[in-house]
Amino acid sequence: MKLHVKTFGCQMNEYDSARMSETMRLAGWELTEDPGQADLVLFNSCSIRALAEEKLFSALGETQHLKARRPEVLVGVTGCTAQLAGDRLLARAPGVDLLVGPDRYGDLPALVEQARKGRVRAVDRADPDAYSFVPALPESGTVGPSAFVTIMKGCDNHCAYCVVPAARGPEVSRPAADVVAEAARFVAAGAREVFLIGQNVNSYQGLPGGFPALLRALGDVPGLARIRFTTSHPKDFGPDLVAAMAEVPSVCEWLHLPVQAGATRTLRAMRRRYTREAYLEKIDLVRARLPHVAITTDVIVGFPGETEADFEETLSLLALVRYDALYSFRFSPRPGTLAASLPDDVPLAEKQRRLAAVQALQAGITRAKLSAMVGRTHEVLVEGGSRRGGGQVSGRTRSMVMINFVAPLDAPGPGALVPVEVTAAGTHTLEGRLAGAPKTERLA
Ligand code: SAH
Ligand code: SF4
Ligand code: F3S
Repeated sequence: MKLHVKTFGCQMNEYDSARMSETMRLAGWELTEDPGQADLVLFNSCSIRALAEEKLFSALGETQHLKARRPEVLVGVTGCTAQLAGDRLLARAPGVDLLVGPDRYGDLPALVEQARKGRVRAVDRADPDAYSFVPALPESGTVGPSAFVTIMKGCDNHCAYCVVPAARGPEVSRPAADVVAEAARFVAAGAREVFLIGQNVNSYQGLPGGFPALLRALGDVPGLARIRFTTSHPKDFGPDLVAAMAEVPSVCEWLHLPVQAGATRTLRAMRRRYTREAYLEKIDLVRARLPHVAITTDVIVGFPGETEADFEETLSLLALVRYDALYSFRFSPRPGTLAASLPDDVPLAEKQRRLAAVQALQAGITRAKLSAMVGRTHEVLVEGGSRRGGGQVSGRTRSMVMINFVAPLDAPGPGALVPVEVTAAGTHTLEGRLAGAPKTERLA
């Protein structure tokens, strides 16, 4: 029996898709890249914006051809849309055999067996006090240089625009010992970097001392060269975390701190629970301790009630902070959220204009920041690419910038940490050349 998994949405879904694949493999399933070969096609879905759901529906539409050829093929939807929009989803995609919410992934093999007899809908919530995380079972040779590790599930913040708290339920922290053990398993299987994920890692409660203490514990994992984490909520980001970032050598100089908007008025309407000034103080705090830290952010334009003057405050904040990179979105009203009950009063064309303005401003800042890196040498974690015929290899700096460089055939492959001199800057990436001997030998 063969399984094909297609993943939409954020890192949580990527992590969960890998866990579902492992669970199914243990139950005797084989994975396939080709949906045409699959006996079960799973779509791990995202509902964060309307567009994310539209992508799911068009992918589901294509499975009709699969089913027409082989009626025994099962189609399942897992993830946030399965949890949030079961009825709406089945009305639009009646061919779906299986709906599984994020709290039920551990039962997947049994649910698939049930689905052979008739449609299955498994979206009941786990009791937060009894929740158990499906552990990763990384195998040597199947693991890339960087591995996601989930440290918590859910979100208690209820930002006015966001479906995540409804889709993923209340926050639950994964015990620190399990996080550390999983990180060590990934390292043993070949990873050099661990990317900790949670909707708001700053409210992690899996050990006394919270998230900063978790970073310190992970700092002692042998062979773990780099640690990253996302997402930090500005309201909970503070000096203890900055100290841990500065003091644990493996924690990278990179921080994703979504601001969402520059006007306190808009932030209040978004229920973000910080002001423009408080946010800017946090930026000063981290830059004072980590002068070379790269900072990235998320911005939403056209939130209900956002005036031209409010929007100008977003632009002025971007000009002030000078982020290294930015992800920007047009506000998308989502069913069941607080903001969906507000008038969506910024016209689409105006949202588009604001989005373009944000992106144009950021493009100039990113260009200047990347250009300033030219001539310097950075430690790069080799991730991929071909070395054949003097091929291009790619990797990331500690500050998370992708860099492409030419490497000889005998140069270290994925998983190596190498010094690379930056020779040219592009719009989002850098070009470079190997600068001397690698710091660490290639693993495996
Ligand atoms: N937990 C993270 C990420 C949440 S989703 C955080 O708190 O920042 C990722 C990003 O999607 C958000 O940061 C936000 O910028 C964007 N987003 C979420 N809901 C949205 C909506 N309804 N419309 C447009 N963008 C949205
Ligand atoms: Fe959504 Fe806000 Fe939670 Fe992030 S912190 S997941 S934006 S509710
Ligand atoms: Fe999407 Fe769910 Fe992640 S809505 S962004 S997949 S938590």
